[in-house]
Amino acid sequence: MRNVSEATVTEAVIYKFDGCDNPRLKQIITSLVTHLHAFVREIEPNEAEWFAAIKFLTDIGHTCDDKRQEFVLLSDVLGVSTFVELINNRKAPGLTETSVLGPFFVENSPALPMGATIVQDETPSDLLVEGLVHGPDGTPLAEAVLEVWQTAPNGKYDVQDPNQPEMNLRGKFTTGADGRFAFRTCLPTEYPIPTDGPVGALLRATGRHPWRPAHLHFMINAAGYKQLITALYFEGDQYLDSDTVFGVKDSLVVGPKPTGDGANQSVAYNFGLEPAA
Ligand code: BEZ
Ligand code: FE
Repeated sequence: MRNVSEATVTEAVIYKFDGCDNPRLKQIITSLVTHLHAFVREIEPNEAEWFAAIKFLTDIGHTCDDKRQEFVLLSDVLGVSTFVELINNRKAPGLTETSVLGPFFVENSPALPMGATIVQDETPSDLLVEGLVHGPDGTPLAEAVLEVWQTAPNGKYDVQDPNQPEMNLRGKFTTGADGRFAFRTCLPTEYPIPTDGPVGALLRATGRHPWRPAHLHFMINAAGYKQLITALYFEGDQYLDSDTVFGVKDSLVVGPKPTGDGANQSVAYNFGLEPAA
Protein backbone atom coordinates (compact mmCIF):
# COMPACT_ATOMS: atom_id res chain seq x y z
CA MET A 1 0.00 0.00 0.00
CA ARG A 2 1.29 3.45 -0.96
CA ASN A 3 0.60 6.81 0.63
CA VAL A 4 -0.30 5.53 4.08
CA SER A 5 -1.67 8.28 6.25
CA GLU A 6 -2.27 8.64 9.96
CA ALA A 7 -5.78 7.47 9.23
CA THR A 8 -4.85 4.36 7.20
CA VAL A 9 -1.51 3.13 8.60
CA THR A 10 -3.03 0.77 11.20
CA GLU A 11 -5.25 -0.94 8.65
CA ALA A 12 -2.32 -1.18 6.21
CA VAL A 13 -0.16 -3.01 8.74
CA ILE A 14 -2.95 -5.36 9.83
CA TYR A 15 -3.63 -6.20 6.18
CA LYS A 16 0.00 -7.34 5.83
CA PHE A 17 -0.76 -10.21 8.23
CA ASP A 18 -3.86 -11.30 6.34
CA GLY A 19 -2.12 -14.36 4.95
CA CYS A 20 -1.08 -15.70 8.36
CA ASP A 21 -2.49 -19.22 8.54
CA ASN A 22 -2.08 -19.62 12.30
CA PRO A 23 -5.36 -18.18 13.68
CA ARG A 24 -4.05 -17.57 17.21
CA LEU A 25 -0.88 -15.86 15.96
CA LYS A 26 -2.99 -13.76 13.59
CA GLN A 27 -5.29 -12.75 16.47
CA ILE A 28 -2.29 -11.84 18.67
CA ILE A 29 -0.38 -9.82 16.07
CA THR A 30 -3.53 -8.00 14.89
CA SER A 31 -4.38 -7.03 18.46
CA LEU A 32 -0.77 -6.03 19.17
CA VAL A 33 -0.65 -3.72 16.14
CA THR A 34 -4.08 -2.27 16.97
CA HIS A 35 -3.13 -1.47 20.59
CA LEU A 36 0.39 -0.28 19.74
CA HIS A 37 -0.91 2.10 17.10
CA ALA A 38 -3.64 3.33 19.49
CA PHE A 39 -0.90 4.04 22.03
CA VAL A 40 1.14 5.99 19.48
CA ARG A 41 -1.98 7.86 18.34
CA GLU A 42 -2.70 8.85 21.94
CA ILE A 43 0.85 9.73 23.02
CA GLU A 44 2.11 11.26 19.76
CA PRO A 45 5.74 10.66 20.77
CA ASN A 46 8.36 13.00 19.37
CA GLU A 47 11.30 11.28 17.69
CA ALA A 48 13.64 11.68 20.68
CA GLU A 49 11.04 9.99 22.91
CA TRP A 50 10.62 7.11 20.46
CA PHE A 51 14.38 6.55 20.26
CA ALA A 52 14.56 6.72 24.07
CA ALA A 53 11.90 3.97 24.20
CA ILE A 54 13.91 1.84 21.77
CA LYS A 55 17.10 2.44 23.74
CA PHE A 56 15.29 1.44 26.95
CA LEU A 57 14.23 -1.90 25.42
CA THR A 58 17.72 -2.38 23.99
CA ASP A 59 19.23 -1.80 27.46
CA ILE A 60 16.75 -4.29 28.93
CA GLY A 61 17.98 -6.89 26.43
CA HIS A 62 21.64 -6.14 27.16
CA THR A 63 21.00 -6.61 30.89
CA CYS A 64 19.72 -10.18 30.37
CA ASP A 65 22.01 -13.17 30.64
CA ASP A 66 21.66 -16.73 31.91
CA LYS A 67 21.35 -15.44 35.51
CA ARG A 68 19.39 -12.23 35.03
CA GLN A 69 16.10 -11.71 33.17
CA GLU A 70 15.36 -7.99 33.00
CA PHE A 71 12.39 -8.48 30.63
CA VAL A 72 10.67 -10.60 33.31
CA LEU A 73 11.44 -7.89 35.84
CA LEU A 74 9.85 -5.32 33.52
CA SER A 75 6.78 -7.53 33.15
CA ASP A 76 6.70 -7.85 36.97
CA VAL A 77 6.81 -4.11 37.74
CA LEU A 78 4.22 -3.36 35.04
CA GLY A 79 1.85 -5.89 36.66
CA VAL A 80 1.77 -8.05 33.53
CA SER A 81 3.26 -11.13 35.23
CA THR A 82 0.55 -11.01 37.88
CA PHE A 83 -2.16 -10.30 35.28
CA VAL A 84 -1.17 -13.34 33.17
CA GLU A 85 -0.97 -15.45 36.34
CA LEU A 86 -4.50 -14.35 37.38
CA ILE A 87 -5.95 -15.19 33.95
CA ASN A 88 -4.38 -18.64 34.05
CA ASN A 89 -5.29 -19.49 37.63
CA ARG A 90 -8.98 -18.73 38.06
CA LYS A 91 -9.49 -20.85 41.13
CA ALA A 92 -12.44 -22.49 42.83
CA PRO A 93 -12.90 -21.34 46.45
CA GLY A 94 -10.73 -23.38 48.81
CA LEU A 95 -7.84 -23.72 46.38
CA THR A 96 -4.69 -21.75 47.08
CA GLU A 97 -4.11 -18.54 45.14
CA THR A 98 -0.92 -18.10 43.15
CA SER A 99 1.77 -15.47 43.55
CA VAL A 100 4.64 -14.24 41.40
CA LEU A 101 7.52 -16.71 40.85
CA GLY A 102 10.30 -14.10 40.74
CA PRO A 103 13.77 -14.61 39.32
CA PHE A 104 15.39 -16.37 42.29
CA PHE A 105 14.00 -19.89 41.96
CA VAL A 106 16.83 -22.41 41.48
CA GLU A 107 16.45 -26.00 40.22
CA ASN A 108 17.79 -28.89 42.28
CA SER A 109 17.43 -27.47 45.76
CA PRO A 110 18.41 -30.03 48.42
CA ALA A 111 15.85 -32.71 49.35
CA LEU A 112 15.52 -32.52 53.13
CA PRO A 113 13.82 -34.73 55.70
CA MET A 114 10.52 -33.64 57.22
CA GLY A 115 11.04 -31.07 59.97
CA ALA A 116 14.59 -30.11 58.86
CA THR A 117 15.78 -26.52 58.65
CA ILE A 118 16.58 -24.77 55.38
CA VAL A 119 19.02 -22.44 57.18
CA GLN A 120 22.60 -23.44 56.40
CA ASP A 121 24.54 -20.86 58.40
CA GLU A 122 24.52 -19.68 62.02
CA THR A 123 21.20 -17.79 61.68
CA PRO A 124 18.75 -19.23 64.25
CA SER A 125 15.97 -21.38 62.77
CA ASP A 126 13.28 -19.73 64.85
CA LEU A 127 10.28 -20.24 62.56
CA LEU A 128 8.40 -23.52 62.11
CA VAL A 129 6.28 -23.80 58.95
CA GLU A 130 3.85 -26.68 58.74
CA GLY A 131 0.64 -27.73 57.06
CA LEU A 132 -1.17 -29.94 54.62
CA VAL A 133 -1.24 -30.28 50.85
CA HIS A 134 -4.72 -31.26 49.70
CA GLY A 135 -7.00 -31.55 46.68
CA PRO A 136 -10.23 -29.58 46.07
CA ASP A 137 -12.29 -31.81 48.38
CA GLY A 138 -9.69 -31.63 51.17
CA THR A 139 -8.18 -35.04 50.42
CA PRO A 140 -4.56 -35.06 51.69
CA LEU A 141 -2.02 -35.48 48.90
CA ALA A 142 0.80 -37.89 49.68
CA GLU A 143 4.14 -37.53 47.84
CA ALA A 144 3.54 -33.86 47.00
CA VAL A 145 6.89 -32.10 46.56
CA LEU A 146 7.23 -28.63 48.04
CA GLU A 147 10.19 -26.51 46.97
CA VAL A 148 10.71 -23.48 49.23
CA TRP A 149 13.09 -20.52 49.00
CA GLN A 150 13.50 -17.17 50.72
CA THR A 151 15.88 -14.33 51.56
CA ALA A 152 18.36 -14.28 54.43
CA PRO A 153 18.03 -11.63 57.18
CA ASN A 154 20.19 -9.29 55.04
CA GLY A 155 17.43 -9.27 52.37
CA LYS A 156 19.45 -11.29 49.84
CA TYR A 157 18.93 -14.71 48.26
CA ASP A 158 21.93 -17.07 48.29
CA VAL A 159 22.40 -16.50 44.53
CA GLN A 160 22.83 -12.76 45.13
CA ASP A 161 25.24 -13.06 48.04
CA PRO A 162 28.69 -14.73 47.83
CA ASN A 163 28.83 -14.80 51.65
CA GLN A 164 25.94 -17.27 51.97
CA PRO A 165 26.44 -21.01 51.56
CA GLU A 166 25.16 -22.33 48.23
CA MET A 167 21.50 -23.41 48.55
CA ASN A 168 21.10 -21.52 51.81
CA LEU A 169 17.40 -21.03 52.62
CA ARG A 170 16.25 -23.46 49.95
CA GLY A 171 14.86 -26.93 50.35
CA LYS A 172 12.63 -29.61 48.95
CA PHE A 173 10.18 -31.55 51.15
CA THR A 174 7.91 -34.45 50.26
CA THR A 175 4.60 -34.94 52.07
CA GLY A 176 3.95 -38.20 53.86
CA ALA A 177 0.87 -40.41 53.54
CA ASP A 178 -1.09 -37.85 55.60
CA GLY A 179 -0.28 -35.05 53.12
CA ARG A 180 1.52 -33.06 55.80
CA PHE A 181 4.81 -31.15 55.66
CA ALA A 182 6.94 -29.29 58.21
CA PHE A 183 10.24 -27.43 58.08
CA ARG A 184 12.14 -24.81 60.03
CA THR A 185 13.59 -21.55 58.82
CA CYS A 186 14.14 -17.94 59.89
CA LEU A 187 11.69 -15.12 59.24
CA PRO A 188 12.23 -13.72 55.73
CA THR A 189 12.79 -9.97 55.37
CA GLU A 190 11.59 -7.25 53.03
CA TYR A 191 13.92 -6.65 50.09
CA PRO A 192 14.23 -4.44 47.01
CA ILE A 193 14.08 -6.02 43.57
CA PRO A 194 17.32 -5.49 41.56
CA THR A 195 17.59 -1.77 40.78
CA ASP A 196 20.98 -1.61 39.06
CA GLY A 197 19.47 -2.04 35.56
CA PRO A 198 16.97 -0.24 33.30
CA VAL A 199 13.98 -1.39 35.37
CA GLY A 200 15.52 0.27 38.44
CA ALA A 201 16.03 3.42 36.35
CA LEU A 202 12.36 3.31 35.36
CA LEU A 203 11.28 3.02 39.01
CA ARG A 204 13.49 5.97 40.01
CA ALA A 205 12.33 8.12 37.10
CA THR A 206 8.70 7.50 38.03
CA GLY A 207 9.04 7.88 41.80
CA ARG A 208 8.28 4.22 42.61
CA HIS A 209 9.93 2.26 45.40
CA PRO A 210 11.50 -1.14 44.59
CA TRP A 211 10.46 -3.04 47.74
CA ARG A 212 8.73 -6.39 48.14
CA PRO A 213 7.24 -7.38 51.49
CA ALA A 214 8.90 -10.31 53.26
CA HIS A 215 7.74 -13.63 51.82
CA LEU A 216 8.43 -17.32 51.60
CA HIS A 217 8.18 -18.84 48.10
CA PHE A 218 6.60 -22.23 47.36
CA MET A 219 6.50 -24.35 44.23
CA ILE A 220 4.34 -27.44 44.82
CA ASN A 221 4.06 -30.41 42.48
CA ALA A 222 1.83 -33.44 42.97
CA ALA A 223 1.02 -36.14 40.42
CA GLY A 224 -2.31 -35.43 38.72
CA TYR A 225 -2.46 -31.81 39.93
CA LYS A 226 -1.55 -28.47 38.41
CA GLN A 227 1.74 -27.06 39.67
CA LEU A 228 1.14 -24.38 42.30
CA ILE A 229 3.53 -21.40 42.44
CA THR A 230 2.78 -19.17 45.37
CA ALA A 231 4.22 -17.39 48.41
CA LEU A 232 3.28 -16.64 51.99
CA TYR A 233 3.48 -13.05 53.23
CA PHE A 234 3.64 -11.86 56.85
CA GLU A 235 1.08 -9.77 58.72
CA GLY A 236 2.23 -6.28 59.66
CA ASP A 237 4.79 -5.89 56.86
CA GLN A 238 4.97 -2.26 55.76
CA TYR A 239 5.00 -3.20 52.05
CA LEU A 240 1.96 -5.52 51.95
CA ASP A 241 -0.11 -2.82 50.25
CA SER A 242 2.60 -1.50 47.95
CA ASP A 243 4.49 -4.58 46.73
CA THR A 244 6.34 -3.36 43.66
CA VAL A 245 5.44 -6.53 41.72
CA PHE A 246 1.79 -6.85 42.87
CA GLY A 247 2.16 -10.33 44.39
CA VAL A 248 0.25 -9.99 47.68
CA LYS A 249 -3.20 -11.53 48.19
CA ASP A 250 -5.07 -11.48 51.50
CA SER A 251 -5.44 -15.27 51.44
CA LEU A 252 -1.62 -15.62 51.42
CA VAL A 253 -0.91 -13.39 54.44
CA VAL A 254 -0.04 -15.32 57.61
CA GLY A 255 0.58 -14.31 61.20
CA PRO A 256 3.26 -16.35 62.95
CA LYS A 257 2.22 -17.45 66.43
CA PRO A 258 4.54 -17.87 69.41
CA THR A 259 5.14 -21.55 70.08
CA GLY A 260 5.62 -21.14 73.79
CA ASP A 261 9.36 -21.03 74.32
CA GLY A 262 9.70 -17.29 73.68
CA ALA A 263 12.08 -17.12 70.71
CA ASN A 264 10.22 -19.49 68.39
CA GLN A 265 7.24 -18.87 66.17
CA SER A 266 5.15 -21.06 63.95
CA VAL A 267 3.02 -20.70 60.85
CA ALA A 268 0.41 -23.23 59.75
CA TYR A 269 -0.84 -23.16 56.17
CA ASN A 270 -2.76 -25.65 54.04
CA PHE A 271 -2.23 -25.61 50.27
CA GLY A 272 -5.15 -26.60 48.03
CA LEU A 273 -4.14 -27.85 44.57
CA GLU A 274 -6.27 -27.92 41.43
CA PRO A 275 -6.54 -31.18 39.47
CA ALA A 276 -4.59 -31.12 36.20
CA ALA A 277 -6.75 -30.42 33.15
C1 BEZ B 1 10.88 -12.32 44.15
O1 BEZ B 1 9.94 -12.47 44.88
O2 BEZ B 1 11.87 -12.97 44.39
C2 BEZ B 1 10.81 -11.34 43.01
C3 BEZ B 1 9.66 -11.28 42.26
C4 BEZ B 1 9.60 -10.42 41.19
C5 BEZ B 1 10.69 -9.62 40.87
C6 BEZ B 1 11.84 -9.68 41.65
C7 BEZ B 1 11.90 -10.54 42.73
FE1 FE C 1 11.12 -13.38 46.46
